[in-house]
Amino acid sequence: MSREEVLKKLQQLREEGNLNVPRDELIKTEEQIQGIRESAKINTAVLDYVAERIKAGITTEQINDWVKEYTESQGAICAPYQYGGFPKHVCVSIDDVVCHGIPNKKTILKDGMIVNVDVSTIYNGYYSDASRMFIIGQTTAEKEKLVRVCKECLEIGLEQVKPYGHLGDIGYYIERHALKNGYKVVRDFGGHGIGLEFHEEPFVFHYGKKNNGMILAPGMIFTIEPMLNMKKSGIRISTIDGWTAYTKDKRPSAQWEHMVLVTEDGYEILSY
Ligand code: MF3
Ligand code: CO
Repeated sequence: MSREEVLKKLQQLREEGNLNVPRDELIKTEEQIQGIRESAKINTAVLDYVAERIKAGITTEQINDWVKEYTESQGAICAPYQYGGFPKHVCVSIDDVVCHGIPNKKTILKDGMIVNVDVSTIYNGYYSDASRMFIIGQTTAEKEKLVRVCKECLEIGLEQVKPYGHLGDIGYYIERHALKNGYKVVRDFGGHGIGLEFHEEPFVFHYGKKNNGMILAPGMIFTIEPMLNMKKSGIRISTIDGWTAYTKDKRPSAQWEHMVLVTEDGYEILSY
């Protein structure tokens, strides 16, 4: 099915009175998809580069330097840098930092920490975004389970991505799996459309109702990036740097993120 045919079908749905039909601009062209795919390939290589090197004893600044140097060696740019004033090239979020941790020279990785590295790349003007958790050395069974269940939540969310399905199903099944395991989904952040800009429509809730929200159509690209807290979903933003999001209860938090393309028969993960 060509983009033209998808747009025709969406127009038909609008005429039938469906209020949740995505705007035509959210349906990427073949050329855009190719560009975004290339950007995502570099983004994945950056995460792989970090994965091979991350270990106890290094600073979060070191991760920032790896990400910047490797990204630039590929002819690409780090999207976070100066995005809304963000001061560094990557987000590094440890233990009770939910997201948007700022790399610095003082924070040293230690055995038992759980660390999210969130990498975002611009290549030829196309944006990509993905994050992984890393366990430094050995951690507790509790933290290990949080990391594992969060990854499962992402996988379960991805399985819900299908053409003419609903965005709400993604959040519904993610939250259901989190709650089953006694965890809470962070509500203050979500996934997002991506490709031509860092953050586009739609906002991707990691909780929600089945058969609710935006209709998914082939050619849409967005992230799914659930953040799971152990007991309470509440967060607070640092008043010092205005970015770092902590759990209110100081318990650990985990996050995994992929970028996904809606296809004719399901989905394709672009950030592999
Ligand atoms: N990478 C984050 C996301 O998943 C966004 C970080 S915003 C920044 O959406 F400014 F901190 F980079
Ligand atoms: Co994102």
